[in-house]
Amino acid sequence: MRLLPQTNWHGWQGSRKRRSGVETKELKDCAADLWEAARMLHDGQVVGIPTETVYGLAADARNPQAVAQVFAAKGRPADNPLIVHIASMEQLTEIAAEVPPLAKRLAEQFWPGPLTMILPKQASIPEITSGGLDTVGIRMPSHPVARALIRLSGVPIAAPSANISGYPSPTTAAHVMRDMQGKIAAVVDGGPCTVGVESTVISLEGADSVRILRPGYVTKEMLESVAAHVSLDPAILHQLKEGQTVRSPGMKYKHYSPRAHVILADGSWKGFAALVEQRKTAHTYALVFDGEGETLSVPILTYGKNDQEQAQQIFSKLRELDDLGAQLVFVRAPSADGVGLAVYNRLIRAAGFEVIQV
Ligand code: TXA
Ligand code: MG
Repeated sequence: MRLLPQTNWHGWQGSRKRRSGVETKELKDCAADLWEAARMLHDGQVVGIPTETVYGLAADARNPQAVAQVFAAKGRPADNPLIVHIASMEQLTEIAAEVPPLAKRLAEQFWPGPLTMILPKQASIPEITSGGLDTVGIRMPSHPVARALIRLSGVPIAAPSANISGYPSPTTAAHVMRDMQGKIAAVVDGGPCTVGVESTVISLEGADSVRILRPGYVTKEMLESVAAHVSLDPAILHQLKEGQTVRSPGMKYKHYSPRAHVILADGSWKGFAALVEQRKTAHTYALVFDGEGETLSVPILTYGKNDQEQAQQIFSKLRELDDLGAQLVFVRAPSADGVGLAVYNRLIRAAGFEVIQV
């Protein structure tokens, strides 16, 4: 449901005007535009690019000045490392200092695709890219535009999600323009992302063990077809305590949050409806599953009817709620199985861990 046209009520987004003197070019998925974007990347500029998961803010991973612009455009803390995107297995050995047999098996099974492996890094990857760590997150995306840009530019591409740090990730070129207009050289429009949530991030914990640091489209069950032991990092579902060590720096920051106050309600429809009616105030919305919500007295948006659709839609719906002027949003919690775990993980963070059992 769309009540209002898109508004520009956030000071920091939505403006089509030039801001810091950079005209952000809107490029398409055609040969001439891809060459132009590749040239920009090769020359150390920052470009918003589509991947199958979310849009990324791309720069030459080996160029510290280029990577510094990525951190600046996002407002990202310097200790939160970037993922390096590659297009071939030869590139993997140029970036990772060590590629254990388990990593090769995982790559064979899941690349190109939404899996990021943390491996020891080569000296060619500067500290700014790895957030000061001696490891680097590496993934081979499957999106044809991302792959073309890595090949045409001839450089490995560092790319975090192309949102302002802390805001929901972008799944269309228009989302990237809203966050990055005036801050980066260009955005390449490759259509809406098919997966919709970021890649599964894993570390290798021995010859046959994997730890999931961030859940994504590649699920625990899928990883178990390759590794004998697969564990979930506790930070996936629980808030870290002050001073607790974190294996993936991204886990400790407020994340995926729209401007609206989000409350995640986990349980039955009946309990959800009762909570909304009891707690609603001005500008309250509900984000529910397809086919639900008709009986609520507040306006609703829906986000799909199964885990894959929920993954695909969740970030764009959170952004749309802000555009509608929502101040308080009750979200129906997805089931935390399969790809649903990734959606649940993003939503508890969007809600600042305010989860109510209903
Ligand atoms: O699907 C994706 O992974 C997207 C697209 C653009 O490829 N990228 C993405 O990047 O989500 P970003 O920067 O938003 O999230 C990367 C996550 C962060 O939580 C970061 O802390 C973690 O991966 N990470 C990266 N390198 C790491 C490392 N060496 N050790 C531990 N965690 C790492
Ligand atoms: Mg991100």
